[in-house]
Amino acid sequence: MPQLRIATTNQCLDLPRGQRLVELCEDDQLPIRVVCRAGACGACKIEVLENPDGLSSPSEAEKAFFNKYPKNSVATRLACQCRVLGDVTIK
Ligand code: FES
Repeated sequence: MPQLRIATTNQCLDLPRGQRLVELCEDDQLPIRVVCRAGACGACKIEVLENPDGLSSPSEAEKAFFNKYPKNSVATRLACQCRVLGDVTIK
């Protein structure tokens, strides 16, 4: 079972593979704000600190967002577009 670690709160969650981060945000299990849930607004930006392969590949919506608004860091992702596939650390 993949483990998601949130560095800012030192919180660890054991999650089923494929768990959508947006669902955890909506259940207040993650301190990440979601607005559009569609990869359009950027409100849910996160930084991946360890093991970026622990998240699903960027969706077409996420790619389009970062083509329009380039990333400050290669580790930046949109939480609303990510699924947990393996152990990963975010902030
Ligand atoms: S909530 Fe808008 S991009 Fe994720």
